[in-house]
Amino acid sequence: MDKKFTIILAAGHGTRMKSKLYKVLHPIAGKAMVDHVLTQVEQTNMDEIVTVVGHGAEKVEELLGDRTKYALQSEQLGTGHAVLQTEDLLGDEDGMTMIVSGDTPLFKASTFEELFDYHRQKGAAATILTANADDPFSYGRIIRNNVGVVSKIVEQKDATREEAEITEINTGVYCFDNKKLFAALHQVKNDNAQGEYYLPDVIGIMKDQGEIVAAYQMKDFSESMGVNDRRALAVATDVMKKRINEMHMVNGVTIVDPSSTYIDCDVKIGSDTVIEPGVQLQGNTVIGGDVVVGAHSKIVDSTIGNRVVITSSTIEESIMHDDSNIGPNSHLRPKSELGEFVHVGNFCEVKNATLGARTKMGHLSYVGDATLGTDINIGCGVVFVNYDGINKHHSTVGNYSFVGSNANIVAPVTLEDHSYVAAGSTITNDVKEFEMGIARGRQVNKADYFKKLPVYEAAKKAEEENK
Ligand code: UD1
Ligand code: MG
Repeated sequence: MDKKFTIILAAGHGTRMKSKLYKVLHPIAGKAMVDHVLTQVEQTNMDEIVTVVGHGAEKVEELLGDRTKYALQSEQLGTGHAVLQTEDLLGDEDGMTMIVSGDTPLFKASTFEELFDYHRQKGAAATILTANADDPFSYGRIIRNNVGVVSKIVEQKDATREEAEITEINTGVYCFDNKKLFAALHQVKNDNAQGEYYLPDVIGIMKDQGEIVAAYQMKDFSESMGVNDRRALAVATDVMKKRINEMHMVNGVTIVDPSSTYIDCDVKIGSDTVIEPGVQLQGNTVIGGDVVVGAHSKIVDSTIGNRVVITSSTIEESIMHDDSNIGPNSHLRPKSELGEFVHVGNFCEVKNATLGARTKMGHLSYVGDATLGTDINIGCGVVFVNYDGINKHHSTVGNYSFVGSNANIVAPVTLEDHSYVAAGSTITNDVKEFEMGIARGRQVNKADYFKKLPVYEAAKKAEEENK
């Protein structure tokens, strides 16, 4: 069996993106474009993968790590020149080499397989993957002779008016006989509109040398789209979004409004989970089965158990165990963990804190830097005062405790199991088991004082009128 190699071109800056971020690092559904390409290539059993890096080389290498080898193209003199930089690594090899750009994030591994099969079947020196575009503008055009055989590729900027009307485009993916590729690359010149060494020129060179050049036309143009600017980035994002949503629906997830649901490519979701409109599920998020993710929730890098209910809330780098619930309008900030059957209600914030099983926090509270046991009740408006202006401090609350409404728990402090904090208290000292901590001014009632106040006259007048 022939050896198989892949070269990924990722050295360009991506001027048309008008961005500080290098083009191939722009994310689509939570993953950099070049990572999408590599992920699909990895599924096709390559003997070697080489990525050509230049602009942002360190960033690309940091992202892709040792999943690929690298060749440096220190000056971006064109795609042909880019491929030539891999000659030290691949030049002596016998086998088939696929070339793919780092800015075509929608290709599927199955298409790469089809290209290899076709290439083998045709016994070709080069096979171009082509597609038919409704709007071929900016792509290289496939020029065929009068019997339909490919003779060359012409870039947009070099195309005559007639050539520009051709809708069959070069997807930027090719399969080559490895040795013939490098031999032809040395003959590529840069006498064109952009003054670059074009990889597609290899096709014309091979053809002129009497080699077999084949073209495999894929059915779905959208899979081949190249992303050169932000408009294309949005179109590609939409294609990827549909693909991801369909995969989850096929797997038994209800997505009420797929058009407004944004799920990153690595998110996992169990069956019978319902995703309501406007939801964003990002990063390394795992969601169990029978979950309801309510409208406009956002979940980032978090793990959600089974039967959890999330109502219009934001969850970041946190864990919610089975049967817990949150919202509406609450926020789990990083390193929060809600145990089984925990209830976090309206307008609450939790940060770097654990709430044990069955603990309840219904309304308007903040718990930061704290460990709460099981079966605790946190009243309305409780604040864990964790910050002294310089340092963050940690508090602990034991099982079966009760923290009354509007209490301040000033860290560091420990409330033992079965402790009780009276409403409105500002707690600065530990509370032992079975104790009640109360820390507020005593109430004094002054008889007839109402009558001395200006409201008294107003109240009397209103009472008269209401008679
Ligand atoms: C390229 C093809 C065009 C094809 C289209 C498909 C050429 C000359 N043109 O055009 O026929 O229809 O892709 O999407 O190849 N790169 C380098 N080094 C360089 C230049 C580019 O590594 O010196 C990389 C870029 O980072 C990019 C890829 O090669 O990932 C393609 O370059 P790009 O400038 O996007 O070419 P297109 O104009 O899209
Ligand atoms: Mg491109």
